[in-house]
Amino acid sequence: MTVRPLGPDDFLPAWESVDAWFAEAVHEPVHPVFFHHFGGYAVEDDDELIGLLVGFRSQANRDVAYIHIVAVHPDRRGEGIAADLYERFERQAKSWGCTTLEAVTDPANEAALGFHEGQGFWKELVPDWGGRGEDRYVLRKRIEPAL
Ligand SMILES: CC(C)(COP(=O)(O)OP(=O)(O)OC[C@H]1O[C@@H](n2cnc3c(N)ncnc32)[C@H](O)[C@@H]1OP(=O)(O)O)[C@@H](O)C(=O)NCCC(=O)NCCS
Repeated sequence: MTVRPLGPDDFLPAWESVDAWFAEAVHEPVHPVFFHHFGGYAVEDDDELIGLLVGFRSQANRDVAYIHIVAVHPDRRGEGIAADLYERFERQAKSWGCTTLEAVTDPANEAALGFHEGQGFWKELVPDWGGRGEDRYVLRKRIEPAL
């Protein structure tokens, strides 16, 4: 198993598979711009994408490092893959000088809520965050910047 920086070549494998890893369709978040101009990590095993994290430093608030997607192949859950990706991203965020990690999830996504709670995030329900009637939990964790 290898973990490496996410790049443009990961877009198609992610587009073809990540949708099925979520409880509901997420094609919109798997947009090519994230793979060309943002970043994160890809996890591969036997040349197959089995996990990814899309994350970047917020342009609007430089204190915040935002995780846009974390997803792991259903057959590979519970192995600590997502926790390892969060650890890597937190190190990166600290090196940027960020003080907060942020992610957003659907209130119905119990796996995401359980995972983030275990990672030390607290949650705030924000009405209409994802569109009219589309409430979301904004998840935040304080971190100590390395700078
Ligand atoms: C959420 C997700 C990324 C977790 O990936 P994972 O690789 O299985 O997680 P890990 O094995 O690294 O688990 C790390 C910790 O989170 C906990 N955790 C993982 N899934 C959990 C769940 N469904 N409910 C409660 N806790 C969970 C684990 O128990 C573990 O805790 P521990 O360190 O005390 O043992 C995975 O379930 C997934 O891809 N879900 C679909 C995509 C998704 O919803 N992404 C989140 C969008 S915000």
